[in-house]
Amino acid sequence: MTVHVAQISDTHLSEAKPFFNANFERLGEALRTAKPDLVINSGDISLDGADLDADLRRGHSLHAALGLDWLAIPGNHDIGDSQGIGSKEPIDARRRDRYRAVFGEDYWTHDIPGWRLIGVNAQLAGSDLAADSDQSDFVRHAAATANGRSIALFVHKPLYDVSPTETELGGRFLPPAARGGLLSTLNGAALRLVACGHVHQFRDTKGDGWRDVWAPSTAFILPDFFQPVFGSKVVGYVDHAFHADGTVDSRLVLPPGMALHNIETIPEAYGDLRARKH
Ligand SMILES: [Fe+2]
Ligand SMILES: [Fe+2]
Repeated sequence: MTVHVAQISDTHLSEAKPFFNANFERLGEALRTAKPDLVINSGDISLDGADLDADLRRGHSLHAALGLDWLAIPGNHDIGDSQGIGSKEPIDARRRDRYRAVFGEDYWTHDIPGWRLIGVNAQLAGSDLAADSDQSDFVRHAAATANGRSIALFVHKPLYDVSPTETELGGRFLPPAARGGLLSTLNGAALRLVACGHVHQFRDTKGDGWRDVWAPSTAFILPDFFQPVFGSKVVGYVDHAFHADGTVDSRLVLPPGMALHNIETIPEAYGDLRARKH
C-alpha cells in the first residue's frame, strides 16, 4: 500500500495582499485532480500571519476550501521567526497563541502504514518559550514509540545546507542549537525523510541516513542577488509516495497555470529587496 502526501509550502496567502492567492487556486485544481491522501503545508502559509490575524484566517479558509484532508506546520511568517537571529518578528507566546487559535496544534504526529509523520514548529525549537521543552518531549516520545515505523520529519526550515555540523547562524537554516536539539530527540529513530520548505527552491539530496527534500513555494521565488541557487527556483509542490515497507519516493510536481512570480517584482509584498540587501 502506498499513501500519497502532497507537500505544499510557502503559500504566503493574504487577505489584504492577495498576490499569491491565484497560484493557490491553480494548485487546488491540480490537487483535486491528483487526489492525494493528505496535504501538508510546511509553513509560511500566510504572507504576514505573524502580525495579522486576517492573513492567518484567510490562509486557513483557503485550505479548508480545498476539500482535501490537510495538516500544517507554522513558518516564520505565520508565528514569528527563530529567536536570536535578529528578526524583527521573533516567535513569542502571543504569536504562538494567535497561530494555534486559527490552525490548532503547531506540532503533531500522523501515522500511515509503515510510517510515522512528525510535524514540528521549527521556530519554537531553541526558543525561550516553555512550550519548546514540551515539543522536545513530544518528539522524543513519538520517535521512541514508532514501533518499527520509518519516521518522516516535517519542519519549515532546512536543518542545514550540506552538513549537520554547520555553525552558521542566520535565517535560512535552522539555528545550530535548534537543529542539534531536534536531532537529539530523534536519536536512534529510523529517520528516513526530512521534508522542509522556507527556501522557495526544490532540492532532493541524501542526508545522514535520510533524504532531505525541500519543497518549492507555491507563491514566488527570490532573485539570485538576494539568495544563492541551492536547487531549482520553481513554483509547485512535492508528491511523497510513502510505501508501507518504510521507503518513500518524492517527486516534484509543476501544476499548469501557476505563475513563476519573482518577489523582486512585487515590492508591495515584503518591500524592496535591493534596499534590504545593501
Ligand atoms: Fe516562505
Ligand atoms: Fe519561511
